[in-house]
Amino acid sequence: MREAREVFFVDGVRTPFGKAGPKGQFWRTRADDMAVKAVRELLRRNPEIPAERIGEVVFAATAQVGDQGLTLGRDVALLAGIPDTVPGFAVDRMCAGALTAVTAAAGEIALGAADVALAGGVEHMGHHPMGADVELNPRFVSERLIDESAAVMGKTAENLHDRFPAITRERADAFALASQQKATAAWANGVMRETVVPMAVFTDDGWRLAESDEFLRPDTSLEGLAALAPAFRAGGRVTAGNSAGLTDGATAAFLAAEDTVAELGLSPKLRLVAYAYTGVEPHLMGIGPVPATRRVLSQAGIELDDVDLFELNEPFAAQVLTWCDELGVAEDDHRLNPYGGAIACGHPLAATGVRLVAQLAYGLRERRGRYGLTALCIGMGMGAAILWENVG
Ligand SMILES: CC(C)(COP(=O)(O)OP(=O)(O)OC[C@H]1O[C@@H](n2cnc3c(N)ncnc32)[C@H](O)[C@@H]1OP(=O)(O)O)[C@@H](O)C(=O)NCCC(=O)NCCS
Repeated sequence: MREAREVFFVDGVRTPFGKAGPKGQFWRTRADDMAVKAVRELLRRNPEIPAERIGEVVFAATAQVGDQGLTLGRDVALLAGIPDTVPGFAVDRMCAGALTAVTAAAGEIALGAADVALAGGVEHMGHHPMGADVELNPRFVSERLIDESAAVMGKTAENLHDRFPAITRERADAFALASQQKATAAWANGVMRETVVPMAVFTDDGWRLAESDEFLRPDTSLEGLAALAPAFRAGGRVTAGNSAGLTDGATAAFLAAEDTVAELGLSPKLRLVAYAYTGVEPHLMGIGPVPATRRVLSQAGIELDDVDLFELNEPFAAQVLTWCDELGVAEDDHRLNPYGGAIACGHPLAATGVRLVAQLAYGLRERRGRYGLTALCIGMGMGAAILWENVG
């Protein structure tokens, strides 16, 4: 019987993340050019990997139109100067786009279809506002297949507050403040230098360097957060301060097979141990990472306490707090999002997954930890979790 090959995460980078819209740093930059920037940087800093050895390029975007619409994996590979013998394709699993690109590429590597793969994602939410080109089938609502609130992510976060009254506005704001504080500290240590690629961008004021995240607010205070009005429902608890903003950004990663790692003399950072995607009630989509985490731990045969680091996406504080409460992890646990999260850096939907993996690799190395988890929730009610082992 054929044995699957082990898959390693070799390296991963991201662009800085920008505010979607005309005032954001990437407003005049194409989405695919942002993805190309991340890929070019990966090629530059991994010279042991000849571009012609790449066997597949998988790129994710939620809106697959316009400047992120042309079978991204192929489009980005050609634009990045990768030989035209290297194939590519595009995937979509909304917020888990980049994680899905990683696991799709990992599957090809495990089965021997590719030795090395590029996986990443891009979302220019300024050029492609969430849901702009989507026509929701009316049957969803008329036949009550989903609750109407399921289509608006902020409303699903309000639903979590309703379902779990222990998750209060105060806890959500305190979590958001901690995220901002941790992210501010992270920009002063090495994690952002290792994972963020500055990019020259053309703006209304001419050329400039995009080198940091526009959502970072080091001056955030509990009083300031408490003063913000609810964004999605009168009397609600979800605000601009305890949500991730609408974001432009791109990410890219190199994955390789164990024998290729040895052949090319690569220094991988992580081994992919197991992954799981799960479905949950669409109007409670934020709960998705809970069953995904349980499933991935059971596949690997380890306990939550064996995991040394959790990199969770933070679309909404309420969403991470749900995961914490359900799994019994304190929200101020030192293993959880030590460099802050999407509340402070932004969440360019299909790009985010690789940011989590790249930061996890850095964090496990820094802490000399063994296992690490990347997890996020997905619109229309899903969860994703990948378990990694530190080999760096
Ligand atoms: C919540 C949301 C609607 C807010 O959008 P917005 O109103 O354009 O956000 P802004 O950045 O303009 O912030 C609104 C206000 O909050 C303030 N604010 C934001 N963060 C703050 C902080 N940490 N401290 C104090 N004030 C803050 C801003 O300064 C702004 O104030 P102003 O109106 O006086 O200028 C939007 O970010 C959103 O939809 N987020 C969720 C995205 C999403 O669903 N992603 C997918 C997840 S699955």
